[in-house]
Amino acid sequence: MSENSKSRAARLIHHRRDTFKLGSPVPVPLVMASVFHAPGDATGYDQYGRFSNPTWAAVEDLLGLLDGAPAVAFPSGMAAIAAVYFTMLKSGDRVLLPADGYHTTRLLMERYLCKLGVSMDVRPTASFMDGGFEGYRLVFLESPSNPTLDICDIPAVAAAIHAANGILVVDNTTMTPFGQRPLDLGADIVVAADTKAPNGHSDVLFGHVASRDPQIIADIRDWRQTSGAIPGPFEAWLVHRGLETLDVRFERMCNSAEIIAPRLKAHRAVQAIRYPGLPDDPSHNLASTQMERFGFLISLTLASEQEAEDFINNCAFIQPATSFGGVHSSAERRTRRGDAVPPGFVRLAVGCEPVEELWTAIEASLDRLAARA
Ligand SMILES: Cc1ncc(COP(=O)(O)O)c(C=O)c1O
Repeated sequence: MSENSKSRAARLIHHRRDTFKLGSPVPVPLVMASVFHAPGDATGYDQYGRFSNPTWAAVEDLLGLLDGAPAVAFPSGMAAIAAVYFTMLKSGDRVLLPADGYHTTRLLMERYLCKLGVSMDVRPTASFMDGGFEGYRLVFLESPSNPTLDICDIPAVAAAIHAANGILVVDNTTMTPFGQRPLDLGADIVVAADTKAPNGHSDVLFGHVASRDPQIIADIRDWRQTSGAIPGPFEAWLVHRGLETLDVRFERMCNSAEIIAPRLKAHRAVQAIRYPGLPDDPSHNLASTQMERFGFLISLTLASEQEAEDFINNCAFIQPATSFGGVHSSAERRTRRGDAVPPGFVRLAVGCEPVEELWTAIEASLDRLAARA
């Protein structure tokens, strides 16, 4: 982890200290309130649960510290993405989305925004620069893409989009701000599903939008207040708690993935593997320039759909589940979700188990497949 990330991790843990009065609780209080005592002039303090909440504000402070910009919290990653779409776009606008990123991001655009007069193109992440960005109001990027783990050059894409007067939105869910900071790389807006590693315990959904443009943040806040797409205070409280250990968990997960990926690559049951940390992976060189870590997601291809299911379901330390970033390792055969990948394609999310125990379980499950062949 860089010195800057370490400094942010330390500051995050003590972030509330400056606000303390004698007897203040050290952990963040959970404020469950739809109404607040609000006599007289109705500005400058909490009044109504759809407008603001002190527990949201606390988690937004931490998210803002990590992304290096004001952040607005949402009840899920998709609610954050919806806020960006509905705030930034109008009828007649053209948008460009990744062909290989999280599928619901395209679905939301296709089903709801296109109906209102927005037009959409898609492009593979690995060749995202090809074709340029002229005419696009908004370009959305996911790097590394989920689940294929392709990468594109975020600073180059940002410069080209700005030259064409568009804005760049980056979904940073797969990396977290400890792995990559898209706003530092030139993005205008970052969105993330904090449902994943930032919360890390697989018990809530959450999301956020961050931007250094005050007008964008004001518009996004207004959207939240007007649409009512607000996070629950308890969820915010849990995410705050998760964020306090994110750097420890993220480091363990990335370290383990770096150890496990080459072993998977060498295993005879594995036909193909994608992990940006492997020196011969097509993503490796770019990843080394714009990411601090190579992440905790590994994509591997087994011989068939059945092999993928057997590998996942018979591994003692892999939880068969969609989603990723929890303390438990998990995996999913991605054709189950309609991704355009081979039938035996598995997205493996490395969790926080001690790495040798985890590898022994993974190897045993792969060995059983190889023994059948
Ligand atoms: C890259 C990415 N973005 C956004 C989302 C949506 O997040 P949520 O499920 O919290 O709405 C997901 C969910 O898997 C995701 O993987």
